[in-house]
Amino acid sequence: MLDQIKQLISEIGSFTATTPEEIEQFRIKHLSKKGTIAALFDDFKNIPNEQKKEIGKALNELKTTALAKVNELKERLCNADQGKTGLDLTLPGDPIKNGSRHPLSIVKNEILSIFNKLGFTISEGPEIEDDWHNFSALNFPEEHPARDMQDTFFIEKNPDILLHTHTSSVQVRDMETHSLPIRLVTPGRVFRNEAISARAHCIFHQIEALYIDENVSFADLKQTLTYFAKELFGPETRIRLRPSYFPFTEPSAEMDVSCSLCHGEGCNVCKGTGWLEILGCGMVDPNVLELNGIDKEKYTGFALGMGIERIAMLKYGIKDLRLFFENDIRFLEQFTAAI
Ligand code: DAH
Repeated sequence: MLDQIKQLISEIGSFTATTPEEIEQFRIKHLSKKGTIAALFDDFKNIPNEQKKEIGKALNELKTTALAKVNELKERLCNADQGKTGLDLTLPGDPIKNGSRHPLSIVKNEILSIFNKLGFTISEGPEIEDDWHNFSALNFPEEHPARDMQDTFFIEKNPDILLHTHTSSVQVRDMETHSLPIRLVTPGRVFRNEAISARAHCIFHQIEALYIDENVSFADLKQTLTYFAKELFGPETRIRLRPSYFPFTEPSAEMDVSCSLCHGEGCNVCKGTGWLEILGCGMVDPNVLELNGIDKEKYTGFALGMGIERIAMLKYGIKDLRLFFENDIRFLEQFTAAI
């Protein structure tokens, strides 16, 4: 038996294989339950006691040699594969970087959630519009400069099809499709033919809010604005309304918030005034209600609209609006979203 074992050890020692199948056959032949080594262990019972020590040692050596051979062959095969693919499968993987939300999305979601708390639900409208929804139904006079080629990107003329210049166009769609009362917020991308600079872009983002019901008053507008400003910029924030003009609201106003950096004392962000201009607003002009088939004797409403870029710039102290559109990861990964 000792000779048999020695012969097997040398046979196993010189064995080589080039495929996984050959290795498996080798393993089955020698190391499986019905293999050569198991058979020898079976015979071991019949060995006279005085030979047991020597043969037992040889048998154990045989088993470790066979196991080591299988491992060595598998490893060699794996390294050979690596040589072929150039991949080292034992190296740790590349870490996957977490993405981050775009600062404009963060600010948009924050604004929408404030209005959601007041019962405003989200509506969205098309970016390609006709003259009616973007201008006429919003009481823009025929000769209003905003209709001019210089501001508006026209896609077709007569009848005019254009890229909407403000999210106010969605107000018109909302009045067409929703029954009263209406309480909606509308985020959207808008387009104006402006030279691109640190303060202006031909594409930017707006959020519009529209509330129409019986007995909606300017006090409701003012209270909504106060709540909104405190939620967005902090509880110490104050607002002021300056008279303004928009074709679709009467009276119209622009809202400033007290500068959150200098708390109203005057700094270079608020240009020494202590106030920052945030949005346009007003009571929906009765002409607009009438143009959109709403009984102007029974219903009143307010509307407001703001630029998301401007608010994000103020919130984060960003000085150049173009950064929002360059998608430089070093810029984008600095912002973390609460929502
Ligand atoms: N549409 C205006 C603009 O783009 C913003 C605006 C002003 C919207 C007053 C309103 C509003 O709803 O009431 O400049």
